[in-house]
Order: sequence, then C-alpha cells, then structure tokens
Amino acid sequence: PADLNDLAKKAGKMYFGTAVDNPQLDDKQYTDIAFNKAVFGQVTPANGQKYMYTERSRGTYSFVEGDAVVDKATAAGQLLRCHALLWYQQLPNWLTTGNFDNATLITIVQEHITAEVQHYKGKCYAWDVVNEALNEDGTMRKNVFLDTIGPSYIPIAFAAAAAADPDVKLYYNDYNIENPGAKSTGAANIVKDLQARKIKVDGVGMQAHFIAGSSPSYDSQLQNMKNFIALGVEVAYTELDVRITLPNSAEKTQQQATDYANAVKACVVTEKCVGITVWDFWDPASWVPSTFKGTGDATLFSAGFEAKPAVASIAQVLQGT
Ligand code: G3I
Repeated sequence: PADLNDLAKKAGKMYFGTAVDNPQLDDKQYTDIAFNKAVFGQVTPANGQKYMYTERSRGTYSFVEGDAVVDKATAAGQLLRCHALLWYQQLPNWLTTGNFDNATLITIVQEHITAEVQHYKGKCYAWDVVNEALNEDGTMRKNVFLDTIGPSYIPIAFAAAAAADPDVKLYYNDYNIENPGAKSTGAANIVKDLQARKIKVDGVGMQAHFIAGSSPSYDSQLQNMKNFIALGVEVAYTELDVRITLPNSAEKTQQQATDYANAVKACVVTEKCVGITVWDFWDPASWVPSTFKGTGDATLFSAGFEAKPAVASIAQVLQGT
C-alpha cells in the first residue's frame, strides 16, 4: 500500500490515520497494514474506549479492550486519537435516564472521565471528550446527560478531562459538520461556550461520513474549517469514509476517489487541520453496510486488501500540494 502517513507528513500534516477495532487484531494481513507507521501514523480505537466497555458496572473500570489497540499502536510508534468519553450510544445498561439525580450523575461523569483519562495519560494525542451532542438543526441532542444534568454536562466533561491530563488535546467531535450550516454553527457555539467559561478546548473533529457524489464541496469544506479555526482551535477529519450506493460501478468508485481526495486536499491546504483519520481502511471492518442497508464499499481497501482508486487519488493530493 501507499505510504499515506509518510506522504501526509511531507505535506505538513501531523498524521494520516485509521480507526482499528478489536476483532481485526487477530488478522495478520490486516494488522500488517494497520500498524505500519508509514501507511497510518495514527490510530483511533473504534470501540474499546467507549463507556459500555470501560465501566460495565458503576465504579468498576476495565481498559482491556481499548488497551489491546492502544498497546499495538504505541509499540508501532503511532499517535493515538482516543475516542470517546461521553456519547449517547454504547452506554452501559445502568446509565439511563431516571436512574440518577443531577448531582449523582455529575459525579458519575466526572469519575468516569477522570479514571479513563488518567489511565491513558501520556498515550493519547487527543481525546474526543464529547461526541455527537447536536441535532441536525444545531440544538442539543436528547440523551441521558442532557436529560439529567442539562447542557452544562459539556463544560463539566471538558473540565474533568483537562484536570485529569492537562497535556492531551480536547476535542468536540461530530458528523455533518463538514460544511457550513446550522449543525456546524452549533459546534462552534459549543466551542465558544467553553471558551467563555475558560475551560480548555483544543479542537473540533469533523467525522466526515460521506456519500460518494453527495459529499460537501471542496470550497465549502475549506470555508467550514476557516470558521472553526477563527475561534482559535485546530481541526481534524476524524472518521472519514465515503460510502457507495450498491451496486458499485467503475464510475462510482471514481467518484469515491474524488470525494476522498477533496477532503484530504481541504485538510492539507488548511494549516490548522492537523490530520486525517479514515474510519477503518478495510471494507469487511466498516460499520457502513450494517447501518445503511444497500450501501457499502466505503473504505480504501476491498475485502481482498486491494487498494481502490481512492488510495492513489489521496497519495496524489498528498504529493502534489
Ligand atoms: O461487543 C459486541 C460483541 O460482544 C458481539 O459479539 C457483537 C455481535 O454483533 O457485537 C458487538 O458490539 C458491536 C460493537 O460495534 C463492537 O464491535 C455492536 O453490535 C455494533 O453496533 C458496534 O458498532 C459500532 C458503532 O460505532 C456503534 O454505534 C461500530 O463498530 C463503530 O465503528 C461505530 O463508530 C462510530 C463512532 O464511534 C462515532 N461516530 C460514528 C461511528 C459510526 O457509527
């Protein structure tokens, strides 16, 4: 495979990386690519650091699943984006609306974040502190934290993360915030609110789960990043993939290559876009087919580990700018 991370570094970025999930750790063909620093200089554990795996019962922490990915990445000299401290999905069963009052849930959240950030202290480049807190119209998404604590759960989370590790970058992370609009404005408002409270926030993660042929334009991606950077934060593409409406065709695969390349190029030319992470690089490991029926082929490599045209188009962008 092309040495995408080496090329990204030559282009001035900090990393080109990928998500990695635990089931793939036993597949040598997969791990030979995933933990090859020339190809991917950064890894994000796709699931193992989430709430349901790290605090299965209240106050009992386990970092086994996250560590399995983190240890391999660390051994390979790769950076880590750590993911995710608070998210409305993949919560343990005990953590539901109605089970706790305001003060108790605040303590629970603070203890969870403190334990997890301390465990990974010194290992993560960045943490996704709060993930997907917004509705499409930019208002706060209903979840157990909003229900019980109110919108201040976000500053509470960032403050706890900052206290547990003052050196790790703290990100707000979401999807459909890759071009200007109500949801991007909502993300900007989260950053502004944290800054107004003098709470540390370092970056906005744009997930970038795109659809071939309907991805945001290059120009709108550039403008969008400018809007975030104007607030004084860095940005990153954190979960890039470009799904295809099946059946696939040569034209669709070419469109996918163009869409991948546009996102990478937008990041490359934006100084404060630190890096790009794909949300896995191998089709059989992708979350897409099970979530969006009738779509798939979203990653850079086919089931047979053949590089798709998107790999070449990304490499070209990284070399050409
Ligand atoms: O852990 C169980 C395992 O015990 C069981 O045998 C297996 C059987 O299906 O399921 C396993 O849980 C799955 C889990 O991934 C771990 O593999 C869940 O069913 C599955 O729903 C879950 O999907 C993950 C999804 O988040 C959850 O919403 C995807 O792998 C993961 O890629 C995806 O990642 C999210 C980001 O965190 C946030 N942004 C969106 C992105 C895509 O949804």
